[in-house]
Amino acid sequence: MKIFLVGFMGCGKSTKAKQLAHRLECPVIDLDAEIVQLTGKTIAEYFAEFGESGFRNLERETLKTFNYPETCVVATGGGLPCFFDNMEWMNENGATVYLQMEPAALVSRLHNRQKRPLIKDMDDEQLLEFIKMKLQERDPFYTKAQIIVNAFDLDAEKLEDELKAKH
Ligand code: S3P
Repeated sequence: MKIFLVGFMGCGKSTKAKQLAHRLECPVIDLDAEIVQLTGKTIAEYFAEFGESGFRNLERETLKTFNYPETCVVATGGGLPCFFDNMEWMNENGATVYLQMEPAALVSRLHNRQKRPLIKDMDDEQLLEFIKMKLQERDPFYTKAQIIVNAFDLDAEKLEDELKAKH
């Protein structure tokens, strides 16, 4: 089974993906890292050169054409579920888990803003407003996930049981 982790920037998708993959003894795939490897550019460089729409196209292409192992955990970029039919595609092709987190907690975890083009140069106050606004827009997509968990409470063992029950 492919397990896709979705959620806002800073909610811990990459770290939790590694923990879950370790528990399930399967590979972990980070789609942003795959894009960096594929293009030889950082996400910030890619945005600067091709704009957000160029990035979203490449992100969709990478999601849908990646040669996934039979069982794996996939960390997705924060915006990925909210463009095209990416969320439906993940629901049809694997299990989806939304790591939910409050805006204030996200702000305190987003230290390295420069590497994230959408929030670079924002101070805490601006970032909090941006996250609140974006979550309103993105939550309808994220909440299409089959499993919704509080990111702080995510327990790999419990999640494994839930995944088994659903699939
Ligand atoms: C984005 C999130 C980033 C990256 C890009 C855009 C977003 O991934 O894909 O900067 O739109 O929320 P992370 O969620 O891994 O930071």
